Parts: sequence; structure tokens; C-alpha cells
Amino acid sequence: MTSSPRRLVVGMSGSSAPQLGIKLLEVLHQLRTVETHLVLTEGAKLTIKLETSHDPDAVATLADVVHDNNNLAAAISSGSFLTMGMVVVPCSMRSLASIAAGTSTDLLTRAADVTLKERRPLILVTRETPLSLIHLRNMETVTLAGGTILPPMPAFYHHPESIDDLLAQTTGKVLDQFRIEHELFRRWD
Ligand SMILES: Cc1cc2nc3c(=O)[nH]c(=O)nc-3n(C[C@H](O)[C@H](O)[C@H](O)COP(=O)(O)O)c2cc1C
Repeated sequence: MTSSPRRLVVGMSGSSAPQLGIKLLEVLHQLRTVETHLVLTEGAKLTIKLETSHDPDAVATLADVVHDNNNLAAAISSGSFLTMGMVVVPCSMRSLASIAAGTSTDLLTRAADVTLKERRPLILVTRETPLSLIHLRNMETVTLAGGTILPPMPAFYHHPESIDDLLAQTTGKVLDQFRIEHELFRRWD
């Protein structure tokens, strides 16, 4: 068995804080050690337009490969396409629900379903507050299926001074999940 190629599937769905997905793509673009496969939902394109000064097409240029969310024949739709896993950042409650239900109705949720069935790391940076019982149960379902719920929750032990410091912290926590080395925050020692 050969080791998995250093390819990471990055999904962005339509929750607030698309800056989190953009920050991850920027960091991976600079690192150049991981091939990124990006899929944006229509919701993500809308929140990028409404909440950032970026254009969704410009965000897409940060990825090595961009997949259309309607293209269920894309490489990341198949378990035979080897990857390190997938992160959905940010992850809306709609995408979380679809992943928990295993509906696979678009490429993002199909790729997440594939990641779970192949027992690869699936990290969901879920953003909503407060959380309903439905949200919590969907998070439990994904967790029991092997996924990781990683909400963007800031710590203050390293004295963040800017929004970018907070984005860097969550991005570093995501990279830690894939054992990708970084210096985005100072570790507690
Ligand atoms: C500006 C804006 C902010 C939103 N923020 C959130 C959010 O923080 N969390 C969430 O679950 N949905 C949020 N939504 C709603 C989702 O975009 C909506 O449920 C959408 O259907 C998600 O679809 P997707 O998961 O396919 O992107 C937001 C919508 C807009 C327009």
C-alpha cells in the first residue's frame, strides 16, 4: 500500500466567516506542500460576496484544483482518488445536516460522505450560535461516524490582537488535524 498523496479536499459552505476558508487556502497556497482541491457551494459564493472584499473567483485561484459543486463526476467524488482527508471551512448547518444524513446531493456533501466511508479525517468547522438540538444531534452523528467537529472558538492564552490572529488560530487547529506543520500560533509549553 502506497502512502496517500498530499492532497487535501477543502469545502466552503454558506455560513458566516468565509474568511476562515480563505485564510486556510492562503496558508496552504504559501506552504506549497499540499495540493488543494476546492469546492464552493452557492451559499459560500454568496457569503464571500456579502462578508468579504473578495470575489469568489479570486478565492478559487488560491486552490490548485477547483471543482464545480454540481459535478458529481469530479475526482473527489470517488474513494479511489486518494486524499489526506477533507475540511469544510466554514461549514453551514445545512451542509452539516446533509453530511449527517449522508444525502450526497452535491459534490461537497458527496466528497464528505466519501471521506467518512474511507475512514479519512473529516473536519467540519461548523459556525452557528446558539445551537439547536438538531444541530447538536447532527454534530453527534458526524462525530460517531468518525468526523471531527472543530468550531472556530478563540483561545486567548496567546493574547490575540487582531482578527487575523483569531483566523490564524483556527486555521492552525485545522492544520494540526492533518499533521501539517505551521507557525500560525504559539504553542503552550
Ligand atoms: C450572510 C449570510 C450568513 C449566513 N450565516 C450562516 C451561519 O453562520 N451558519 C449557518 O449555518 N448558515 C448561515 N447562513 C445560511 C446558509 O447560507 C443557508 O442555510 C444555505 O442554504 C447553506 O447552504 P450550503 O450549505 O449549501 O452552503 C447564512 C446566510 C447568509 C446569506
